[in-house]
Amino acid sequence: MPDSKQRRPHILLGVTGSVAAIKLPLLCQQLGEIGDLKVITTNAAQHFMTMSAPVPKVEGMEFLNDEDEWHSWQRVGDEVLHIELRRWADIFIIAPLSANSLAKLANGLADNLLTCVARAWDHQAANMLVAPAMNTCMWSGPFTAAHLTTLYDMGMAILPPISKRLACGDTGVGAMAEPASIAEAARALLQLKGGKQLGQQRWWRRLPWPRPKRQLPGGAFQREGICSGPSAHNCFPAVAAALISSAAVLLYAVVRVARQ
Ligand SMILES: Cc1cc2nc3c(=O)[nH]c(=O)nc-3n(C[C@H](O)[C@H](O)[C@H](O)COP(=O)(O)O)c2cc1C
Repeated sequence: MPDSKQRRPHILLGVTGSVAAIKLPLLCQQLGEIGDLKVITTNAAQHFMTMSAPVPKVEGMEFLNDEDEWHSWQRVGDEVLHIELRRWADIFIIAPLSANSLAKLANGLADNLLTCVARAWDHQAANMLVAPAMNTCMWSGPFTAAHLTTLYDMGMAILPPISKRLACGDTGVGAMAEPASIAEAARALLQLKGGKQLGQQRWWRRLPWPRPKRQLPGGAFQREGICSGPSAHNCFPAVAAALISSAAVLLYAVVRVARQ
């Protein structure tokens, strides 16, 4: 594989069974402008894709599903598709991410091609982006916060859904972020992977979880202090915080012992 600086970025797009999968043509168009695209679909996603407009022909774009995983492996020595895809990709985007697949990711399930790639992913690289899409009640339910917190703690970038009238008729938060926002966040993550932009656009916010995060373009956010790509200087705040807290604990212990 050529060096990633001499070729277009390799974008792996996972599509799950949310009605937002009908936006796939627009998403492929936007992401195809950034890099080479491979698309993994779950069985439920394929159902929605039959209803979407035709996906634009983007050169080199490939569609993969669970059958490809099994058909491509016939004997020992054959390539294992989910591992090859992980090796190929510079970024893994799951958009839309259904409540079901969100739960699977948070719990480490690997029962289809998409979740196998996610399970085999190197999360140290901090180059995975998810854009959940679901009914408002699903989004505001307690499982969602718990599962998203797990993904956040693993270093995934999360692009929250937006509020609008949903396909089910309800109005509220739950619609997948716009494809342009997903593409914008993807560009930022790809640049972060190259060690650029680190340290910029950081601030502490308390929405929707009381955890520090750095803001990415497009409305996505990611855990603070995670190492992105070859540059380690982004780890500095986390390392400094760990050192300071260790020193404080040590000092406290010394003072307690000295007082006795
Ligand atoms: C018409 C219809 C629309 C749906 N829309 C959504 C949705 O927007 N978000 C969601 O999380 N699940 C939605 N579901 C449910 C998922 O398709 C279902 O949980 C499925 O098992 C997801 O599978 P996957 O995560 O493997 O793709 C919808 C189901 C139907 C029948």
